[in-house]
Amino acid sequence: MNRSFTSLALLSLFALASCSPEPVEEKNETVDGETETATEAPAVVAAVEVRVDPATGFKMGGDWELVRSHCTGCHSAKLITQQRGTAQQWLAMIRWMQKKQNLWQFDPGTENRIIAYLSENYPPDSARRRAAIPRDLLPPNPYAIQTSN
Ligand code: HEC
Repeated sequence: MNRSFTSLALLSLFALASCSPEPVEEKNETVDGETETATEAPAVVAAVEVRVDPATGFKMGGDWELVRSHCTGCHSAKLITQQRGTAQQWLAMIRWMQKKQNLWQFDPGTENRIIAYLSENYPPDSARRRAAIPRDLLPPNPYAIQTSN
């Protein structure tokens, strides 16, 4: 009994081995079937990566400290770092806060530097947000009277 079991085990081992040709080479293939070539990519990416301020979450590049001093007095920096926009869109947010939320006026130089930092570090990103739902596809608004502006 033992003998036949051993030979059966050996036989299946042999069958297994001969059924999977060149298993080592296949390991390097990606899902797309392309062979991986850029083995040094992670190191390069790490070198370029921008450091993030642990206190605010701001990317520590350019005029980030100027933005920190002007933009975190009233609300969390998270409100800014989760937002994305073109220079024009960032300016529109600033104008809205100046009009509605008591944000002070900036001299043009300061304003340009703030906008440049924001639009360069937090530019539009199509992958982040779904498109707005068209009005006629929204459920009825229970606060319709309050929202008409
Ligand atoms: C004087 C107070 C004040 C300052 C300073 C301030 N904000 Fe705001 N901000 C507000 C208020 C109030 C809101 C609304 C908060 C809420 O919705 O809870 C807001 C909201 C925002 C939002 C969210 C807008 C949205 O559509 O959800 C962004 C982005 C933002 N601020 C960016 C900035 C930036 C950039 C600066 C610096 C230039 C700044 N804030 C400085 C008061 C301020």
